[in-house]
Amino acid sequence: MENKELTLLEVPEPAQIRDWATENGILILAHSYQDGFLQEAAHFVGDSLELARHAAQANATAICFCGVHFMAETAKLLCPDATVFVPDMEAGCSLADSCKAEDLARYQQHLTEKLGKRPTTVAYVNCSAAVKAQCDIICTSGNARAVVESIPATEPILFVPDKHLGGWLNETLGREMILWNGACEVHELFSVETLLALQNANPGSITMTHPECPKPVRDASDFVLGTAGMLRLVKSSEAKTFIVGTEANMIYRFEKEAPQNTYLAAPGASCACNLCPYMQLNTAEKLWASLHARGPEVDVDEELREPARRALERMLAVL
Ligand code: 13P
Ligand code: SF4
Repeated sequence: MENKELTLLEVPEPAQIRDWATENGILILAHSYQDGFLQEAAHFVGDSLELARHAAQANATAICFCGVHFMAETAKLLCPDATVFVPDMEAGCSLADSCKAEDLARYQQHLTEKLGKRPTTVAYVNCSAAVKAQCDIICTSGNARAVVESIPATEPILFVPDKHLGGWLNETLGREMILWNGACEVHELFSVETLLALQNANPGSITMTHPECPKPVRDASDFVLGTAGMLRLVKSSEAKTFIVGTEANMIYRFEKEAPQNTYLAAPGASCACNLCPYMQLNTAEKLWASLHARGPEVDVDEELREPARRALERMLAVL
């Protein structure tokens, strides 16, 4: 049946969708930035690293990936025999888009000539399979420090595509990695002025921000953490109020798994623009339709598979 026709059908409750998928041999994975409905419909919800690990170990024959395109591509690379599909093929990522494979190849060539040797290229997982294929090792927000620390301090490193995550790694690890000039359009809009105002209005609160946030926002935070690290913190901390400097759907998970606390979404400079517009393209209707259609399918070009998978597997071996 066509996706379009199915979107007109009534969508069942999340638990019914999950059961239907189980009966039909489909594993539903969802990133924590998806809305509550999609999180509830999924068999497994996680950060980028947990989702990559889950895909690698699941032995699934069909995966419906509720997230953005590079995450589904990663699942396909790590679970190559599975059919991997997504609710909306247009769900991309501004950070991934900021680093094109051809531009990266030119810059790597330029640096090789300038340095007299090819720098080790570390790529944040938020990039295309074509970019991954040109990199030595991948990292996520959950293991970036360990991945960079696994590379000898004497090695020149090019870090792509997020200049904020790369800048935070340089600061905290004392490295001087060369940074690609990319950024996430969601995290870049958090404002230090509105964050300070929210902190003043909530004395005793703890501020956690994602390393994709700009330096002034990170510097005004108590903790800089990936989404899985944030979840661990809210479950274990004595604090009761948390200001959350990441995509606002993350709060759904916090409220579900640590309901004893209060969560306040950090706002942008002039709006509450803290929802990822790409993640929002995935809806309950599109999920239901894609499960029936087993599509649209995500695939990776033959020649990219081996080098991209190698860089991902090198990451998985670190932590
Ligand atoms: P995590 O690696 O923390 O899941 O974040 C993914 C992402 O896209 C952040 O914007
Ligand atoms: Fe990409 Fe930013 Fe959306 Fe994460 S929040 S998927 S980095 S655009």
